[in-house]
Amino acid sequence: MKKGAGSMTALAPPIGVLVELTHRCPLGCPHCSNPLKLEPPAAELDTETWKRVFEEAAALGALHVHLSGGEPTARRDIVALTRHAAQCGLYTNLITSGIGVGERLWGGLVEAGLDHAQLSFQGADEGTNDRLGHYDGAWAKKRAFAAMVTTAGVPLTVNAVVSRPNLHQVSAFIDLALELGARRLEVAHTQYYGWALANRAALMPALKETEEAIRLVEAARPKLAGRLVIDMVVPDYYARYPKPCAGGWGRLAINVSPSGKAMPCHAAETIPGLEFWNVRDRSLAEIWADSPAFNAFRGTDWMREPCRTCDRKEIDFGGCRCQALALAGDAAATDPACSKSPLHARIGRTAAAEAEAGSEAIRWRSYKAALEG
Ligand code: SF4
Ligand code: FES
Repeated sequence: MKKGAGSMTALAPPIGVLVELTHRCPLGCPHCSNPLKLEPPAAELDTETWKRVFEEAAALGALHVHLSGGEPTARRDIVALTRHAAQCGLYTNLITSGIGVGERLWGGLVEAGLDHAQLSFQGADEGTNDRLGHYDGAWAKKRAFAAMVTTAGVPLTVNAVVSRPNLHQVSAFIDLALELGARRLEVAHTQYYGWALANRAALMPALKETEEAIRLVEAARPKLAGRLVIDMVVPDYYARYPKPCAGGWGRLAINVSPSGKAMPCHAAETIPGLEFWNVRDRSLAEIWADSPAFNAFRGTDWMREPCRTCDRKEIDFGGCRCQALALAGDAAATDPACSKSPLHARIGRTAAAEAEAGSEAIRWRSYKAALEG
């Protein structure tokens, strides 16, 4: 048994690897979960290193690679990377804003063997979408991208990140996904990490509106069975129990940052004292098994009360370590999203107060400013 593995008897391979190929992105979404300190282009891994990472992921037993960012198509080698991942036998998922993908690039991606595209929308109409994405003309480009995807017969997921400014559009997002021919719609309530945490006061919805949005999705699901699958990420601050973040720390997934840092989740770097190994220096197999960061909160041995004796500890794995740090000041604490956390009532009150105050002060995600800052 690996150190820190708790009740895990053998270390199963990760199901997927999420590669943040770059932090460059044309959009400026305030709900972005990327870190406030973005990585510069000069630090990005080169093509050959990413290819080796894909080979190692497949050899380790991973099934999927999520090509993400930032905007992954900002990489000039995105077609070569997609081709290599597909040739390794990985299911390739492009997570994109759709901006900057013309017919030629799209044709290259299809020919390279891309399996799936996940397209973000920031609003369900032009004005909301372009305002929240901080990019004039994004709406038209996204729709054009969706048309290319469905024409090519590649499965399309529409990813709608919702928060106070667009939560009233849940029904319109469902209509949009149907109109675009998506097979799946992800209604993802903003998770407060990185830029989203910095913008929480401007994004936090009220409980009543949140419940209404959840009700609309639940009512739509049976009506659209067989046409559109609707996934929903529920908002943590109003939850009774936390999500099993990243499927459980070091349990299902590996995130690799643009510069090659291998992490159990996208926000793990916010936790001080964790030692991250880099794919430049070590194989993914070595990182998965022995990296101090992956073993820090793997399994259940690290838990304290109330998680230690809780019957849900192998369902949600104590929630999110990064959120525990952000809200409780201690990454080993019970996630305050859990009703058993002594801080739970306080974060609910904070959320309600922020929703009520209705701040409109937004700090737009800015690559340039983040690099300079
Ligand atoms: Fe999950 Fe811990 Fe809450 Fe139990 S006490 S539900 S294990 S976060
Ligand atoms: Fe890091 Fe949840 S985002 S554990």
